[in-house]
Amino acid sequence: MSHLTLSSPAKVNLFLRILGKRRDGYHALASLFHTIDLSDTLTFSLSKEDSLTCSDASIGPNLVTTAIDLFRRKTGLNFHISIDLEKKIPTQAGLGGGSSNAATTLKGLNQLLGFPVSNQELQEWSAEIGSDVPFFFSSGTAYCTGRGEIVREVPRFEGKVEIYKPQEGLSTPAVYKTLDLSECSKTDPEELLEGFLSGKPTFVNDLERPAFKLIPSLAYLKQKLGGTMSGSGTAFFYFPSAS
Ligand code: C5P
Repeated sequence: MSHLTLSSPAKVNLFLRILGKRRDGYHALASLFHTIDLSDTLTFSLSKEDSLTCSDASIGPNLVTTAIDLFRRKTGLNFHISIDLEKKIPTQAGLGGGSSNAATTLKGLNQLLGFPVSNQELQEWSAEIGSDVPFFFSSGTAYCTGRGEIVREVPRFEGKVEIYKPQEGLSTPAVYKTLDLSECSKTDPEELLEGFLSGKPTFVNDLERPAFKLIPSLAYLKQKLGGTMSGSGTAFFYFPSAS
């Protein structure tokens, strides 16, 4: 096989609790991650030289390149790959587009090269690319802890989700920098998880407050349209069937 097309889904954080700041500078979190229908498409071809094309010219070399480098370094394999990335997931949205693209790149390379690596190993490696990447090796809904890289699969959360993405975007480090730990909710994340598993969901995101400090109009938007912000924003999601 020399060609392969894979879709790369977006995620929302059904709840996101920040539990504290770690010594390594990251934040300890507990979050229910969930893939949604919105997705990018990656087409891979083994070729004579590396190339990356993207439908959105404003996107520079992203985590796809980091994933290729990681796969080469870890496996020691020699190959050249040509990747075409068709973008549908907005960036700076908290929808995990870049992380998902990185996970899909690792899966695509592994498949094209005849599965030299197990899925579990790929998932472990992927944490080096970013905290959210290992989640995309799960089957759709997972309770993630640590800095996000410890992934426990749970039964898929059902329901049609609607997304709205304000024009402004936010960078994840900026939102974490603005976070005041004393302003986080106090709810036990295991209780939140129980609520989702028993059909009584509560949507909480501790990153809303810092995001609203950075872009005050987001608070107004939430008040007007409802919903919950995903990750570090700025996209919001809601389940029409649950409201
Ligand atoms: O892991 P990743 O590279 O995606 O994280 C991007 C940035 O987000 C980190 O540099 C850090 O500022 C922040 N972050 C954090 N705690 C996490 C995840 C991300 O502080 N659990």
